[in-house]
Amino acid sequence: MCGIVGYIGSRNASDVLIDGLRRLEYRGYDSSGLAVLHDGRIELRRTVGKLSKLINNVSKRPVAGTIGIGHTRWATHGRPSEENAHPHMEGGVAVVHNGIIENYLALREELKKEGARFKSETDTEILAHLISREVRQGRSLEDSVMRALHHVKGTYAIAVISRHEPNKIVGARKECPLIVGLGQKEVVLSSDIPAILDITRKALFLEDGDVAVITRNRVAIKTLNGQDVERAPVVVDWTPVMAEKGGYRHFMLKEIFEQPRAITDTFRGNLMEESGDIFFSDLSLSPGDIDRIYIIACGTSWHAGLVGKFLMEGFSAIPTEVDLASEFRYRNPLVGRKTLVIAISQSGETADTLAAVREAKRKGAYIIAICNVMESSITRDAHWNLMTRAGPEIGVASTKAFTTQLVSLYMLSLYFARKLKRIDEKKGRELVQELVRLPMKLERVLNESGVVEDLARRYFHYSDFLYLGRGINYPIALEGALKLKEISYIHAEGYPAGEMKHGPIALIDENMPVVVLAPNDSSYPKIIGNVEEVRARGGRIIAIVNDGDREVKERSDDFITVPSAPYYLMPVILTLPLQLLAYYIAVFKGTDVDQPRNLAKSVTVE
Ligand code: G6P
Repeated sequence: MCGIVGYIGSRNASDVLIDGLRRLEYRGYDSSGLAVLHDGRIELRRTVGKLSKLINNVSKRPVAGTIGIGHTRWATHGRPSEENAHPHMEGGVAVVHNGIIENYLALREELKKEGARFKSETDTEILAHLISREVRQGRSLEDSVMRALHHVKGTYAIAVISRHEPNKIVGARKECPLIVGLGQKEVVLSSDIPAILDITRKALFLEDGDVAVITRNRVAIKTLNGQDVERAPVVVDWTPVMAEKGGYRHFMLKEIFEQPRAITDTFRGNLMEESGDIFFSDLSLSPGDIDRIYIIACGTSWHAGLVGKFLMEGFSAIPTEVDLASEFRYRNPLVGRKTLVIAISQSGETADTLAAVREAKRKGAYIIAICNVMESSITRDAHWNLMTRAGPEIGVASTKAFTTQLVSLYMLSLYFARKLKRIDEKKGRELVQELVRLPMKLERVLNESGVVEDLARRYFHYSDFLYLGRGINYPIALEGALKLKEISYIHAEGYPAGEMKHGPIALIDENMPVVVLAPNDSSYPKIIGNVEEVRARGGRIIAIVNDGDREVKERSDDFITVPSAPYYLMPVILTLPLQLLAYYIAVFKGTDVDQPRNLAKSVTVE
C-alpha cells in the first residue's frame, strides 16, 4: 500500500512521476504528491483524493526540474489530508515512504525535545527529520539516510532528495518493494514494475537492507553500514502495453477479457499433451517427501487456495489445509520438515502472507509460491516459484490473477499425482487435454457478456445478495460475493448451499437475490433442493447452469448458461459470469470500479 516513485534524467520529472503514479494508483488513492528539485529549491505539490487532483494542480502550475520523487497514499497513520500527504519535507530534504515506522512515537518525542516541530500526524515525517538532522551535520545524503534508518523499527521503501545535493536520489528498502529501473542516462525508482516500463525494462530489484545511491549515470547499492553490494539487473518480461487499458472502459473489464490468454500463457510450456505429464523444470521437491500441505493466502488468493484443497486432495491425496495468512501465524500450526506450504499471492508483497511464509520456513517447511510478480518479496523467500502469467493486474479487484492461480494449482496437484502414481497416463492425458480446451470455453462465456450486462441492469438496485455453491464451487460463491462487495459496495455473502438452512435462510425474501452455482455435477440434485427452499420463501434465483440444463432453469427467475467442464475445472468457468455480474452492477451503480473506496491492491501492512 502506498506507491513511491523517483526520477532522475533529462525529462521533465513531474511528467514522469505522474505517469509512474498513475500506474501505482492501485496501491492507494487517499492522497498524492510530488517534490521536484530545480535551481537549488524543492517544489512541493500535494493534494487530497485521487491522482487527478494532483494532475490538475500541476497542469495549472507546471513544475520544472529533472529530478524528483512522488507518492500515492493509502492512509495508515493520520487521516487523508494535505499535511499528511507525502512527500514530507524538513530542512531541504524531501521523503516519500511506503511502510510503517513502528517506533515513531518514541522518535517523535526524542526529536521534539531537540526542538523539532512536526507538521503532520504521520510516521513518515520522522524520517525527514532524522535524515535532515544528519545532513545538517555535514554528512552526505546517503550517509544521512543510513544513519537515520539505524534508529528506525518497522518497514519501509523510501526515496529521498535533498537540495544540498541536487543530483542524487537515495532509496532504501526493508520489507516493502523497491525497484530501480535503469534507462539511458536516466533512472526511475518505483514500488512496482508497471511504473518503470515507459522508461526501461531493465531493473535492479533491491533486497532488504539495501540503500541505492542514484545519479543520472550510476546506481551504487550499499548496505545500511555503507558496504558496496552487487545486484545483477534483470530484464522484465512485461511490456508497457500490458499495463494500459487497451480501449476498455476499465482495467477490470480488460483483465476479465484477458483470462483466456492469461490462462494459456500460464499453462503453456508446462505440459505434454501426449503423455499427460506436467513438468516444472525448477521444482526439485518430490511429493514423497511431504506428508501434509498448508495453503496460505489472503483475500481472493485465499479463495483460490480453498479450491486448491479439493485439487490437492482429489488428485494427489495429500492432506491439505487452507489458512488465511493472518490467522496461520497466530495459531501455532503443526508445521515440520515434511510440511509443504503453498503461498498464493498475486502481488507477492502481502504482508500477512509474507510473514506466514517466513514463520513456516523458520519451522522447517518447504515453501512453494504461486505468484504473479517476478522478484517480489514472497518469491524471494520461497524455495520454488510457480509464476502465474497473468501480466500486470491493475484493477484493485483481482480477476485474471485468480483464475491463473486456479490453473497453477490444477497443474501442481496433477504434477504431484503423476509423480505419486495416483493418476495414470491415460487419465493424466485427459486432464491435460481438458485444461488445454479451457480457454476456448472461457471465450464462449465472454462472448455472452451481454446477457450478464442485461441481468445486472435489472438487479443493480438490490442491497443484499446471497451466493450459494457446493463442494469445489463453494469458494467460487465466496469469490463472487467478494467481487460484488468490493466494487459495488453491495452487501453480499457467499455460503455453502447445504449450510443455508442453518441460518441465512432467515434472510431470504423477495428483496434478496440468490445467485446459485448449479453446474451439472454430483451435487446437482441437492442444489435443486436448495433452489426450492429459496423459492418457497419468495427469494429470487439467478442460476449459473451448464448448457442443456432444464431443471434448475425452470425453477429460476434468471439464468446464465456456461459450457460444461470436468468437476475440477468448473470453478474457473463459473468465476467469469460472477466477475462480469459484479462488474456490470458496479458500472450501473456508478461506483469507481478500478479503485473502490478504502481498498488497496497490495496490502503491505499486517
Ligand atoms: C488485497 C486485494 C485483493 C487481494 C488480496 C491479497 O486485499 O485488494 O484483491 O486478493 O489483497 O493479495 P495478493 O497480492 O497477496 O494476492
